[in-house]
Amino acid sequence: MNEALNSIEWKNDALVLLDQTTLPNEIRYEENHTIEDVWDSIVVMKVRGAPAIGVAAAYGLYLGVRCHEGDYESFMSLLKAKRDYLAGSRPTAVNLFWAIDRLVQKAVDADTKDIEMLKALLLEEAQLIHKEDEEINRMIGENLLTLLEDGQGFLTHCNAGALATAKYGTATAPFYLAKERGWNFKVYADETRPRLQGSTLTALELQRAGIDVTLITDNMAAMVMSQGKVQAAIVGCDRVAANGDTANKIGTMGVAILAKHFGIPFYVAAPTPTIDLATPTGAEIPIEERDTEEVTNRFGQWSAPKDVQVYNPAFDVTPADLITAIVTEKGIVYAPFEENLKKLFAEDAQH
Ligand code: MRU
Repeated sequence: MNEALNSIEWKNDALVLLDQTTLPNEIRYEENHTIEDVWDSIVVMKVRGAPAIGVAAAYGLYLGVRCHEGDYESFMSLLKAKRDYLAGSRPTAVNLFWAIDRLVQKAVDADTKDIEMLKALLLEEAQLIHKEDEEINRMIGENLLTLLEDGQGFLTHCNAGALATAKYGTATAPFYLAKERGWNFKVYADETRPRLQGSTLTALELQRAGIDVTLITDNMAAMVMSQGKVQAAIVGCDRVAANGDTANKIGTMGVAILAKHFGIPFYVAAPTPTIDLATPTGAEIPIEERDTEEVTNRFGQWSAPKDVQVYNPAFDVTPADLITAIVTEKGIVYAPFEENLKKLFAEDAQH
């Protein structure tokens, strides 16, 4: 077993990110000192995964205003401009918008107009978002464990792991907790073309944690399910719409369709900051399209003719009716999702 890799750290007044583009070959940490550094790290996916993007963006927004000198009005207009700049980095994971809007709101609601005090409040809020993420994921893991059993096999897609979050991951949280409790279980990790988050990240972090992980290519999932090796499919999410439709890494919808066919429960691990009640259905979720070279040139050499047409959506939307349950830190949500997701947030507002 190896020490866990830490994807995000605030250290010596800088945001230290583990560069996820060089894994598993090279473990390299990079200091981000400016908002531009953070924007770039998000766009090229040195930091990726919805919760990690949110945490990094929160620190990034602080970095964008921390050197400003001027009056309150100029500080607030800079904060909003920097918020909009970061909002243009990646469109699908709602955690990004949730985190930067939370910082802006913190400044708007503050009972001070002293800009040094406002800067301190923004850094504190970013650190709070970071810390909360760890606790959220542990609770998601606890809730998911109640749906799983010792001795089972699980399939996951992409990386909704510790590397995508502050700690534990979301879909992987029950694996870490089950390991601590001495369960005997197997995890099948989809390779996840085209960016290979399953092989470069999920297989790596689970293997380092001593978890029994088996890597498969995406087109092997049906075979593995048909052989009775999988008792639950567990995935993360980038945005859950109000009706339960869920955007996650491209290929997730295929896993959900297969799970339905084979009668296997399909669980979405969803921190509440990833649930977006302002987006009515999956049809309104913006889906990022990335560079076509991710498809044609991923393995370090051309694997397609130079001028071939390529379509490269980074996410798909799993329709709510293929989802067995949406598992949050506050509890497990079943259909009808529209009604029950609303209730989850309403209960929260009462406390
Ligand atoms: O493009 P990525 O690597 O940022 O996509 C990541 C995913 O789709 C994850 O499953 C999702 O963000 C959840 S991470 C806890």
